[in-house]
Amino acid sequence: MTLLARTRTELDAALSTPPRGRRAVVMTMGALHSGHTSLVRAARELVGPEGQVVVTIFVNPLQFGPHEDFAQYPRDLDADLATLAASGSDVDVVLAPEVDEVYPGYPDGPLVRVSAGRLGQVLEGAVRPGHFDGVLTVVLKLLHLVQPDVALFGEKDAQQLLLIRRMVADLDVPVDVVGVPIARADDGVALSSRNAYLSPAERASARALSAALRAGAAAGVDGADAVRDAARAVLAEAYLTPDYLTLVDPTTVDEVPSDHGGPALLLVAARVGTTRLIDNMAVQVTDPGETHR
Ligand code: PAF
Repeated sequence: MTLLARTRTELDAALSTPPRGRRAVVMTMGALHSGHTSLVRAARELVGPEGQVVVTIFVNPLQFGPHEDFAQYPRDLDADLATLAASGSDVDVVLAPEVDEVYPGYPDGPLVRVSAGRLGQVLEGAVRPGHFDGVLTVVLKLLHLVQPDVALFGEKDAQQLLLIRRMVADLDVPVDVVGVPIARADDGVALSSRNAYLSPAERASARALSAALRAGAAAGVDGADAVRDAARAVLAEAYLTPDYLTLVDPTTVDEVPSDHGGPALLLVAARVGTTRLIDNMAVQVTDPGETHR
């Protein structure tokens, strides 16, 4: 049976009996889809039947810019609880607090926040100033409230996952962070709550993002520049101008040079209509110079 906690007190009561296994948390902003339920399933698989799975549902105002979709962001707790129940993942506790419960006195607080530093100012952070400070602040708070052994996050938000890993390492937070592979629809589009904003025509254009990543990944044998060119060509054919399309070192998110050889991450962000979508794919890159040396 899933216990619903709306307050810290209810959460403490729901967690008062320690699990026989490990406690896992999956943090979400609701509008749950099969991408989220794949995270929840992964959490249950990780901790087993003896473990405890906690899902948090909280639309975090700190990670939205003043002109972003905080007010419009889909909120339907009953539908989310039904999605979790139908997933068959046996969620033990759902924490779905109001803003005041997480940030007493909001919008006057919290005064002290986590700073994502340099890694939080590039890519998504360059387009969304302060976004990652808001993400890290709520993630740290939710980790303190839930006290999990393991926290699972989707690899779709690659920069977010990297920053959460860095925060946990840099601030000695006692939790294991696990990345879960991107869940995709049959047409290749990465699952995202924001896909709900797309018209049918926009949905068709959105396919170009994952198609560009696949084309880029396939060009890895010809080197980093070939990866970038192949991906750019697919986006151009779909008349999409990316906010960024970049092939990066997965640990630093620095653009890799033309002579890079080894693993890399191809990241894309683009506006489809008024909806901003992101996606990424791991790419194995061969240094083209290697074949001529
Ligand atoms: O990825 C998300 O949905 C959010 O950024 C998170 C991690 C739940 C924090 O609000």
